[in-house]
Amino acid sequence: MNALEIKNLDASIGEIKILRGLDLSIPKGAMHVIMGPNGSGKSTLCHVLTGKEEYEATGSVKVQGVEVLGTPTDQRAGAGIVQAFQYPVEIPGVTLRDLMEELAGDQDDPDAFWARVDRKRDEIKVGRFMDRAINLGLSGGEKKRSEIFQISVLNPAVAVLDEIDSGLDVDAVREVAEAVEAMRTNELAILLITHYDRILRYLKPDRIHVMMDGKIVRSGGPELAAELEGTGYEAFRKVAEG
Ligand SMILES: Nc1ncnc2c1ncn2[C@@H]1O[C@H](COP(=O)(O)OP(=O)(O)O)[C@@H](O)[C@H]1O
Ligand SMILES: [Mg+2]
Repeated sequence: MNALEIKNLDASIGEIKILRGLDLSIPKGAMHVIMGPNGSGKSTLCHVLTGKEEYEATGSVKVQGVEVLGTPTDQRAGAGIVQAFQYPVEIPGVTLRDLMEELAGDQDDPDAFWARVDRKRDEIKVGRFMDRAINLGLSGGEKKRSEIFQISVLNPAVAVLDEIDSGLDVDAVREVAEAVEAMRTNELAILLITHYDRILRYLKPDRIHVMMDGKIVRSGGPELAAELEGTGYEAFRKVAEG
């Protein structure tokens, strides 16, 4: 069974059609990347996956075999899909450790949760900011690492990462890519969305999909990134339009 299975997904806001018949399946343990130019509908896809309300969506989105389209956001988290925000908010007065304690209270198995916190803290290298206010005074790369850590400890089935590489310098991009690789498990399916191919130099995705005008126009292995780097998106548009 796929961790995430999207079939014939359409989404619109009012009269504006944004997603047009999008299909995508990610097996558990796999990392898939969606690349596409600005305005192709990447963020809309994230919002529709996590249940943001202003979009009207039809089709099917299954998380571990359970249909989630039309259900509220909290129910989707329960089904196993969580998203990292493009612009993480600063929370003065609340430390990462405070947040972990808060989350521990909701866990069926707090011991397993704390074991995961310890393991992920080391793997994703966030030990240094456990006792600092969330995101306050952190660099762009550190904020993204903190976010990746926060998702990891929740142990979701599907993690959606929208442009976690935007606005970062080249060292921070590498750092974030390493954190994404460190979050990988045999259970977690990752959907990583990006505009730039830079981060792909440091990642080992299983599949890359090119998105244009609200649908996937091309899918392939990691070699697709190199092709894209050579030709840019316009070549794909011509192929897509035949
Ligand atoms: N809330 C909205 N109201 C109107 N149009 C929107 C809204 N959100 C997105 N769009 C439009 O949908 C298209 C896709 O946007 P988006 O999903 O943000 O693309 P991407 O993330 O790939 O840059 C764009 O043309 C954008 O203007
Ligand atoms: Mg976007």
